[in-house]
Amino acid sequence: MTPSNSPTTLFASRISGTGSAFPEGRLTNQELAVRVDTSDEWIRERTGISERRIAKPGDPNEFNSSLGYRAALKALEMAGKRPEDIDQILYATCSPDTLVPSTACWLQAKLGAKRAWAVDINAACSGFLYGLSMADTFVRAGQSKTILVVGAEVLSSFVNWEDRTSCILFGDAAGAAIVERTSSDSPQRILSSHLHSDGTLTDLLGMPAGGSRSPVTADTIALKQNFLQMKGREVFKVAVKTLADFAQTAIETNGFKAEDIDWFIPHQANLRIIEAVANRLDFPMEKVLLNVERYGNTSAATVPTMLDEAVRDGRIKPGHLVLLDVFGAGLTYGSILMRW
Ligand SMILES: CC(C)(COP(=O)(O)OP(=O)(O)OC[C@H]1O[C@@H](n2cnc3c(N)ncnc32)[C@H](O)[C@@H]1OP(=O)(O)O)[C@@H](O)C(=O)NCCC(=O)NCCS
Repeated sequence: MTPSNSPTTLFASRISGTGSAFPEGRLTNQELAVRVDTSDEWIRERTGISERRIAKPGDPNEFNSSLGYRAALKALEMAGKRPEDIDQILYATCSPDTLVPSTACWLQAKLGAKRAWAVDINAACSGFLYGLSMADTFVRAGQSKTILVVGAEVLSSFVNWEDRTSCILFGDAAGAAIVERTSSDSPQRILSSHLHSDGTLTDLLGMPAGGSRSPVTADTIALKQNFLQMKGREVFKVAVKTLADFAQTAIETNGFKAEDIDWFIPHQANLRIIEAVANRLDFPMEKVLLNVERYGNTSAATVPTMLDEAVRDGRIKPGHLVLLDVFGAGLTYGSILMRW
């Protein structure tokens, strides 16, 4: 686990703009129940999800980088920045436009962010927090002033739509944040980030084929190995424990108590996971921000889309303490605490 909140540096970082974007197409539980053996009632009860957005296959307006582009433009506008101001683009995704080149480079071209260097980060659902933590580190090191961090997925391309245990969960979306330099004594800043991964748990969630280890062939397609596979029950248990642990670590490291946190934004994988975490932390659900019902699990996009919504509708106000907390395939984990 890597804590990062050194008070000895001159600089700190803060988020000065957020944005989000979703595909137009909605897929309701009722529509899913026509495709696989499930029901609206089962999905709502077990996951809290009612519908999700699904990108139209092949539509250039709904490529991963196109959703990222729309989200990035909104974040830039809120921050009062231009694409030329961006020093770096950190693009968190596990469902890239193409394996090579990176989705970050596709986005860079769309934005015309000529000064930036751009790179993808794959930490699955934890990706946005990994990107945010890296951005914070680059800014505090004095290397960059303005960084665009995107968390975006079109996981619908990688979901096995015949597998009712996984296809009910996922949706497509993009969220973005502009991370800017501020002084280290500024009250509004990222206070800490804690990241960790456990590569011994790779078998719980992943896509067995499609990489160089097992390229896509007629055989792997027949076995559906080029789609997401998941051990849902095991993931559920680890998720509850690690989300609670990382939230607790963030709160304690900064000398706070749970009641000091104004808003908690956990990874939106399943409402039951979130409720179990809140229960462990003795944290009231009224202060937990939720979008899982409307969008499902949008992986790296759940936290930045939720953050953007709550900033824009005024729930998150300057001075609020906001706790972000994630887990994902890898397995990967992390929490970030910031003063908005
Ligand atoms: C996938 C998940 C919703 C399943 O819920 P669950 O309460 O654990 O359900 P179980 O896996 O124990 O299955 C219970 C029963 O429901 C069935 N079932 C599974 N999916 C179903 C569906 N969509 N509709 C109806 N029945 C379903 C199972 O086959 C099982 O039937 P059985 O008892 O006859 O064997 C839940 O485990 C989960 O959300 N896990 C975490 C997944 C996750 O977050 N992944 C992303 C990580 S970033």
